[in-house]
Amino acid sequence: MIIFKRVSHFQDWIRESNNKGLHLGFVPTMGALHEGHMSLVEKSLADSDATVVSIFVNPRQFNDPEDLKKYPRPVESDIKMVELSGADVLFLPEAEDIYPPGFDPHIDFDPGPLAEVMEGKFRPGHFQGMAEVVHRLLSIIQPHKIYMGQKDFQQLTIVRKMITDLHMPILLEMGNTVREPNGLAMSSRNTRLSPESRQEAAIIYSTLIAAQRLFEEGEPIADIKKIALDALTRKNFEPEYFEIVDGITLRSIQNMDDSQFVVACCAVKVEGIRLIDNTIWTRSE
Ligand code: PAJ
Repeated sequence: MIIFKRVSHFQDWIRESNNKGLHLGFVPTMGALHEGHMSLVEKSLADSDATVVSIFVNPRQFNDPEDLKKYPRPVESDIKMVELSGADVLFLPEAEDIYPPGFDPHIDFDPGPLAEVMEGKFRPGHFQGMAEVVHRLLSIIQPHKIYMGQKDFQQLTIVRKMITDLHMPILLEMGNTVREPNGLAMSSRNTRLSPESRQEAAIIYSTLIAAQRLFEEGEPIADIKKIALDALTRKNFEPEYFEIVDGITLRSIQNMDDSQFVVACCAVKVEGIRLIDNTIWTRSE
């Protein structure tokens, strides 16, 4: 595996791989890697000629400075994990390379209402910063495919819109959410939970599953949301939202028949740490 820290060095490698006609798969991350990230790397390894993984804790997407400060950065063990995965390149850029002094990171892309709901409501500016860095990384690496997790469903939906709107010649592949044995979606933030809360946080996934059952039984949407929010309101738990939305527009649905592709998304603060999760309830096809 080659580790590139400078864009200029990495660009020679990219040029060479393009000349050879290699299909590049790309997995962007912010590090503190776990099996969720690695499942995306495996997906890329299985269907690309070469796989690039990036680790960059993007300051511009953190609306909460405390969250940025506390974001785990286990660089050495991350390098080992990527190395063991069989990925070809690990891109570890410096902030000055991604945002050189005087560089305007603003991009000509408006996620519109997609960024106004759910996470967008609670994390102002987050998706703008996320889209900017993904755009920047995609223009440096120029991969054929980008691999992103269902875990961050709204993020993935916004990146899909950016790729479509800006006619970027890149395919987006979604990887399933990888979970801890108790059902809690893996997240770099889970290590900040106490062992008790990490166990108890399994209720987030079990609530999504229980809500899906109610949905299939025809329970009114408003009642399902209320039941779910009640279930998630407990000591040390502070639910921020539980939404049942169309998986393309992210608009709340009122009735079962409003959408062919229903996704339930929620965010809960557990001991002050924001956890998000979602499940896809129906698919068009
Ligand atoms: P990060 O949170 O490190 O996640 C990197 C990728 O891993 C994202 O596509 C995310 O959806 C996926 N992922 C996280 N947890 C997962 C899980 N349990 N199962 C499957 N996939 C999972 O998301 C970001 O970084 C950043 O916003 C980024 C896109 C890198 C831009 O800075």
